Amino acid sequence: MTGLEGKKFHIITFGCQMNEHDSETIAGLLLREGCEKAEDPGDADIIVINTCSIRENADKRFFGTLGQLKKQKALKRDFIACVCGCMAQQEHIRTAIRQSYPWVDLVFGTHNIHEFPELLHQVCQARLDFAQKDEQKGNEDLILQGPGSYTLAKHSIRSSKETRIIRVYEDSPRIVEGMPAERLYRHKAFVNIMYGCNNFCTYCIVPYTRGREKSRHPEDILEEVRNLCEDGVREVTLLGQNVNSYRGIPKEASSDEKTWDFTDLIYALDRIGGLERIRFMTSHPKDMSDRLIEAFAKCRSLCGYIHLPVQSGSSRVLKRMNRKYTREHYLELVRKLREAVPDITISTDIIVGFPGETEEDFQETLSLAREVEYDSAFTFLYSPRPGTPAAEYGDQVPEEVKHERFDRLVETMNEISARKNLEYVGRTVKVLADGPGKKGSSTVNGRTDGFKLVDFPGTEDMAGNFIDVKITEGKTFSLKGEPI
Ligand code: 5AD
Ligand code: SF4
Repeated sequence: MTGLEGKKFHIITFGCQMNEHDSETIAGLLLREGCEKAEDPGDADIIVINTCSIRENADKRFFGTLGQLKKQKALKRDFIACVCGCMAQQEHIRTAIRQSYPWVDLVFGTHNIHEFPELLHQVCQARLDFAQKDEQKGNEDLILQGPGSYTLAKHSIRSSKETRIIRVYEDSPRIVEGMPAERLYRHKAFVNIMYGCNNFCTYCIVPYTRGREKSRHPEDILEEVRNLCEDGVREVTLLGQNVNSYRGIPKEASSDEKTWDFTDLIYALDRIGGLERIRFMTSHPKDMSDRLIEAFAKCRSLCGYIHLPVQSGSSRVLKRMNRKYTREHYLELVRKLREAVPDITISTDIIVGFPGETEEDFQETLSLAREVEYDSAFTFLYSPRPGTPAAEYGDQVPEEVKHERFDRLVETMNEISARKNLEYVGRTVKVLADGPGKKGSSTVNGRTDGFKLVDFPGTEDMAGNFIDVKITEGKTFSLKGEPI
């Protein structure tokens, strides 16, 4: 095998927490091969771009970043450029890479992250073979000219084209267990509980890039969380595109052992000693059960926070989005959640300018936002994704109308967030400290149970501890306070 030991790597991640966590796994795999992390991409021998295709600007940023790698390729003979993630799953993107980005060495998908080290070894071996052949042809001079030279760039790009590996699977029937992960924080971790999505919201590319829903066995999840807690983790965020449709089959399934649903999993996790906080992401309103709402009140460690994407306040638009719930159903869920946990914090995702959205539909979104009083919201301009049904709808909303509605929505959301955050002034909240915002800073930040971001004066050694903080200021996106 070709050695990867000592090679420096840097991962550039676009997109959601699922991608963040995949990048943690990729880092874990590379460290296991003896590679080292490079903080600065300029120092790296291997760069991995973990891509997102949820909206068009993610596409654009990816191709921009890819362009920059060409320069790095010209400077380092052994440099390896890798692309993975949701964009790698799309045929037209792979074609673009094949045709226009000859300096990309390796493309792998969302279903074969576990194969990455093996594929890297294969690329290295193929390059050695290629260089030897070149040598035999008397091309040695070309290869050995100094760093940065044009000929070297041409050679290494030529070698990339010859030795490139593109390995992507459409879907995968099984889940690979036991992968390492290099966590960003010692005290908190992401844990995947399921992969893929079966919902096919008409705007969304995810079901095409992440495949069908697959749930991990409950025993595997529990073991992973127990191990994490032994390693100092106090908060886990359970990840899945739609965690409410988790269906975990016990490994030793006998006739009296039923499939676990998401609430069963929450109750079992709640019993793990040392685990102080459970969060999850993302919930689909159509699958939120009353049992799960009850669990918010009953489970010691389940945080009083929910991210519940509404997407639109108009039942007519929701129907065309294939969301399978109405405005009324959503508002009823919020009512029940607040009844179970009066101070629960709620965030959401909203898409503006979905095809056919009228001013009246948009007004319904604004009024729903005011009624729910979201603590925070992620707002998106509708972006047609090739291959999704909505991209083909004839009644696309003009760009200027989308932008104008978007600005009004952001203004409304910010007003609500700021007002809600002001209500915290004078209150004392428990914050799990993450550490200084910037290296060497005397301000530490962390999150409340309700996922509010809090800044307060402190020191690095506070990271991973629960600190009581008295709130002195409520801003639009965060709170400020003093530890007591
Ligand atoms: N255009 C705009 N926003 C989108 N989202 C998903 N697909 C699109 C799209 N085509 C948003 C949804 C989802 C979030 C992760 O991204 O609001 O909840
Ligand atoms: Fe996309 Fe809808 Fe699945 Fe979420 S539930 S990933 S928005 S298709």
